[in-house]
Amino acid sequence: MPPEKHVPDPATRKLTAPQHPLLQHKLSLMRDVQTGVKEFRELAAEVSLLLAYEAMRDLETEPQTLSTPIATAQFPMLSGKKLALVAILRAGLIMTESVVRLVPAAKVGHIGMYRDPETLQPVAYYSKLPADISERRVFLTDPMLATGGSAVAAIGTLKAAGAVSIKLMSILAVPEGIKRVHDAYPDVEIVTAAIDAGLNDHGYIVPGLGDAGDRIYGTK
Ligand code: PRP
Ligand code: URA
Repeated sequence: MPPEKHVPDPATRKLTAPQHPLLQHKLSLMRDVQTGVKEFRELAAEVSLLLAYEAMRDLETEPQTLSTPIATAQFPMLSGKKLALVAILRAGLIMTESVVRLVPAAKVGHIGMYRDPETLQPVAYYSKLPADISERRVFLTDPMLATGGSAVAAIGTLKAAGAVSIKLMSILAVPEGIKRVHDAYPDVEIVTAAIDAGLNDHGYIVPGLGDAGDRIYGTK
């Protein structure tokens, strides 16, 4: 199979698929069926950091006066809304655990959801979100945006809790999932490392990387 294209639709404003070689290289290693649990987990954490770098590109800063050992001057510091990282369990957990090291003051929420293997419908089993989520910029994490059912349900949970600013960080996405999220929530920006061709009969991303949760936790 030839290498898949990673070209985001330029007409879709709310979609970012960074083409950085480091990101693409690490994602290719994640795809490799020979990559074991330890390395897969490490790669998922590293890819999440690179995605966060892109997803947080528009965070506000304001100048603050600081003194270096040499001089006093104004330097940019983060300002604006505080952040919340929200993981869709299980697989999104590794992403929030990695990204919180970049933004240690962020609050972290969890939405428990799994996809029924027969119906491919999301089944929600848990939700614990920051009480002040309406005042925060929310970064929702899930490595796989496949049918989009889980992401749409999770975004619905966030909106019901009052969230108004939501970005979805995924490692792999397909056009079906992107469309489903944007049809339901056009305001939600998606940041993904790659856009694959589509889904197979079992709802798995092709060529994809397999079952993200199983590969992170070694459960298969
Ligand atoms: C995976 C993945 C997403 C979902 C994507 O989770 O992490 O949450 O599937 O599929 P969708 O876009 O078609 O909804 P899974 O159901 O395997 O749960 P797990 O993370 O607990 O293993
Ligand atoms: N969930 C996964 O973990 N992998 C896929 O390819 C699709 C959904």
